[in-house]
Formats: sequence, C-alpha cells, structure tokens
Amino acid sequence: MTPQPLSAPGPEPERGVLDFPLPPPGTMGPPEEYVRLRESCPMARVRMPMDATAWFATRYDDVRALLADPRLIRPTINDWPPRPDQAADARPGLVTMSELDGPRHRSLRRAVAQPFSSRAVRNRLPRLRERAEQLLEAFQAGGRCGDLVAGFTAPFPLLVLCDLVGVPYQERDRFLPILDAALSGMVTSEEGRRVTDLLRAYLSELIDRKRSRPGDDALTQLVRQCDEGALSHDDVLAFGLSMLTVGFGISGIFLANSVHTLLARPERYARLRDHRELLPGAVEELLRYVPVMNGVVVLLATEDIEVRGQTVRKGEAVLPVLASANRDERVFTDADRLDLGRTGNGHLAFGRGTHNCFGAHLARAELTVGLEALLDRFPGLHLPEGREPSWDDESLTKSPLTLPVSW
Ligand code: HEM
Repeated sequence: MTPQPLSAPGPEPERGVLDFPLPPPGTMGPPEEYVRLRESCPMARVRMPMDATAWFATRYDDVRALLADPRLIRPTINDWPPRPDQAADARPGLVTMSELDGPRHRSLRRAVAQPFSSRAVRNRLPRLRERAEQLLEAFQAGGRCGDLVAGFTAPFPLLVLCDLVGVPYQERDRFLPILDAALSGMVTSEEGRRVTDLLRAYLSELIDRKRSRPGDDALTQLVRQCDEGALSHDDVLAFGLSMLTVGFGISGIFLANSVHTLLARPERYARLRDHRELLPGAVEELLRYVPVMNGVVVLLATEDIEVRGQTVRKGEAVLPVLASANRDERVFTDADRLDLGRTGNGHLAFGRGTHNCFGAHLARAELTVGLEALLDRFPGLHLPEGREPSWDDESLTKSPLTLPVSW
C-alpha cells in the first residue's frame, strides 16, 4: 500500500468521471459513496485528488481477482500518474518492495522472510508486550487523561519495528517528518521524489553503519547477504524504504483507528475487556471493518483487460478498493456492522497475491498485544466528553492526529 504521490496536470477532463470519494471531514470512512458504487457502478472512472484518472473497483470478487492478476503491476513513481515531464526527470524505478517484480521481487521477499514469519513473530511476543507495558506505564503516570496517539498508538509499532529492523528509535526525528509528508498522499511528484531521496540518503548512511557495527537485526542480515553478492545495495534500500513507509506508517494509523472504533461505542470496548477469548477474531474483524488510508492500492495495466464488461486499456491505472471489498454485502453478512464475534472472516486488508502484506503476522501481533495491554491496564478507558479527537483532513490517511482518552 505505497502512498502514491499525486501530480498535476492530468489528462483532459473526461465525461462520467467521479471525484475521488472521500469520507466526511473528521471521520475515517469508508465513504458512503462506496455502497452506491458497489451496487450500480462497480468499475467506475474516478479523478484522483491531483487530476489523474483511474478505474475504481469496489466489489469483493473484482478486488480479489485484480490484486492477484499478473497483467497488473504496481507502478513506480515514474510510471504513474502520467506527467508531461515524464522523460525529462525519470529516475531508476526503485522505491519500495511494492514496485519490484519478477525474480528480483521473489528473491528479496525470500531473503527477508525469516524475521517476519509466523514463528519468528510468535517468539517476539514477550518483547512486544514489554514495549507496550513500558509505554503504557509512562502514559498512565501522566495523570487521569492523555493523548493516546502520542502516548501509545504511534510509538508502539514504531518501537517494535525499530527493534526488529535495526533502525535506531532515538533517530526518529530524522525520518518521521519525511514519512509524514510521504504518507499524507498529498504531495506532488516533485515533492514525492524529494521525500524519497531524503529517506534513501538516511538509509544509505544507516546501511554503512550496519556494515561497520553489525547488530542483531534484519537490516544487518541483509547487508551481510549484500556483501556476499546475494542481494544488491538497491534491494537492501528497497527493503529499508518499505519498512520506513508501509511498516511504520500503516500499523500506527491502523492501531489508532481501531482503538477509536472500539471506544466510539463503549459497549464494544467493554465486551472485549470481559471476553478476552474474542480477541483473535476481533482483530480480524477490525482488519475488515477499519479502513486504512482510504483503502486503495494502485495497479497499472500492462495490456488491455476486461473487468465487469469494461475495458481497462494498457497503461491505465486500476484501484482495487480494499475498504469497499471488505464491506461488500455479497460476502459479509451485515457488512457495515462491527461484529466482534464474527467468524470465517475472509477480509482483504492485507491484499492478496505476490505483493500481499509482508508484515501481516507482525501487524496482527501488534494489534493483539497492543489491545490486550490497553484492556489490562485501563479497563475503564473511554473518550472524554467535550474533548474530540483532531483529524488531519488534508491527508489521505484518515486517522486521528490526537486521540484524547480518560481512565
Ligand atoms: C495493520 C497494518 C497493515 C496493513 C493493513 C497492511 C496492508 C498492506 C497491503 C494491503 C499491502 C498490499 C499492497 C499491494 O497489493 O500492493 C501491503 C504490502 C506490504 N506491507 Fe503491509 N500492512 C500493514 C502492516 C505492515 C507492517 C507492520 C509491515 C512491516 C513489516 C508491512 C510491510 C509491507 C510490505 C513490505 C509490503 C509490500 C510487499 C510487496 O510488495 O512484496 N505492512 N500491506
């Protein structure tokens, strides 16, 4: 789910093209428009916020098939959106793992798989719990209320991934501001490139440091494989960039949105507190129900393809809308209801196919341990009256910037 920088200007306005559906200000979505699109226009043409046009696929079956269709690739920053200056400032296509394909993508995924496997993540659970406890203890010491985003939902996944990948947490001021700009989705192509260059420079320096002072972490392991000739420097960079963008960013947003969703109806939080056995299924249900970054993935057609009677031409972009697929009434009974006891949940929150989420085991563990630690320490956690969360409505991430809570 790489944030796509947006460019201007795009193609001539096209008839029958919808504006990119956005949830109302101060909410995380998904936009109500998705219901109508699923019913009457499951392959719609939409105009992205900065003028490029794309196909918008909203039904579960279509989204599922598109995600695994080899005729669709994840575009690099140079491929999409189309720009008039395309040839002039094209750069090497490397950005994140999402933009790699074929054997190179497969070998990189294999090379970095071990620390993110189900077993490796299970072994790290005590460490995750320790990190959650440290943060929540400090948060509780601050009084009877506080901002849960600053105190917990943002730093927790960051600390966990810093430990695992080998990025020094104390250097977060060097990459977080750049990351915020990248994840907002509201950057032009030029800014997108500047942001990527800054992250790349930081990572190159970090890779050099791992070489001279190796650690017990994923980045050190990759640097070793690079020195043995099994991977290139660009592969190691692609991994690091993926961790900094997708890994750090999405988990924090997802945790904040999930806690807000639970606290917005106090009976939901209370049910989980009193019925811990529901937690594993509740985590899957939150993954289905809670949208992240408007829930879209960007794909580019490498040849003409037919979808639901529409022809997607070679070079056109298709957006499988995960957040809409996950609410499709054809697949999920009472799809718009958060059912913490739901079973057999085939959500698409982590995508599908060769580019499915690499950090899915870790993301599930963070969510489970994070919620468990919150429920244990703050059984009476609630949203205080008169102190609303603040939302960054300029950003496509659609998550609370601050989440005031009391206990
Ligand atoms: C709740 C949290 C998360 C959600 C909802 C999520 C969702 C997704 C989705 C939908 C994709 C597929 C994009 C596509 O098809 O192009 C993806 C890819 C990816 N995710 Fe996650 N993710 C989460 C957390 C994480 C974490 C913690 C990591 C860190 C290890 C991570 C690393 C990645 C990487 C590296 C890819 C690209 C994989 C590839 O292209 O081969 N994600 N994620």
